[in-house]
Amino acid sequence: MAAHTRRDFLRRATTGLAVLGAGGLTLPAGAQPTPASGDLGDYAEFLKGEATTTTAPAPTGKWAATEDNILGPYHREGAPFRAKVTPPLEPGDTLVVNGRVWALDTRKPIAGVVIDIWQANAKGRYDNDDRRNPPAKGVFKNRCRLITDEQGYYEYETIHPGRYLNGRQYRPAHIHYLVRVKGYRQLVTQLYFKGDPMNDKDPFIKPSLIIEPKAVTIEHGTYKVGTFDIVLPPTP
Ligand SMILES: [Fe+2]
Repeated sequence: MAAHTRRDFLRRATTGLAVLGAGGLTLPAGAQPTPASGDLGDYAEFLKGEATTTTAPAPTGKWAATEDNILGPYHREGAPFRAKVTPPLEPGDTLVVNGRVWALDTRKPIAGVVIDIWQANAKGRYDNDDRRNPPAKGVFKNRCRLITDEQGYYEYETIHPGRYLNGRQYRPAHIHYLVRVKGYRQLVTQLYFKGDPMNDKDPFIKPSLIIEPKAVTIEHGTYKVGTFDIVLPPTP
């Protein structure tokens, strides 16, 4: 492409992007293409979203699809891709959750799975539970999206969520999941925590969704780590 033609193309492209508004992506007129990364190795397979192999131990016990759970009223589409659910300095007990997404049919981990995570803060509040004071567009507190890596692995840092009133009864602490990948059934579920005093009273909880995070002590203090593996059946 001749230099002037390319410049015109870029100018048209940036003009088009400018209509996205103040938060839209803009490119300088002289922007160069991002250079290729060279040998992508397994990453190329990862980008295809195909089931991969891993040396990680598969889920123990009987293979079964992860159980679903209610969506609830607080999901929001479009949370940013990041591995920290909470804003910086969010009050609460630090919690790391990790796991792998597995295919029920192949019993291999699935790469490229998109996982929406959302939860209440330590006081049991969602960022969109007050209709008189909704979150600003593009501001997502205590929410994120993640993509499983080439080993089907995901991990995020957050805080232990607070319980909140649902009708006349508190729901046990929980974290919401929406799991989506081509070729497998979409899963809406929640994870719960062993020992929560409301677990026995909640009408929605399922025992298979309860995890038991373990304390880890490092130089700066103690936090908890829990594992929540997910098994998806293929779409019919
Ligand atoms: Fe909830």
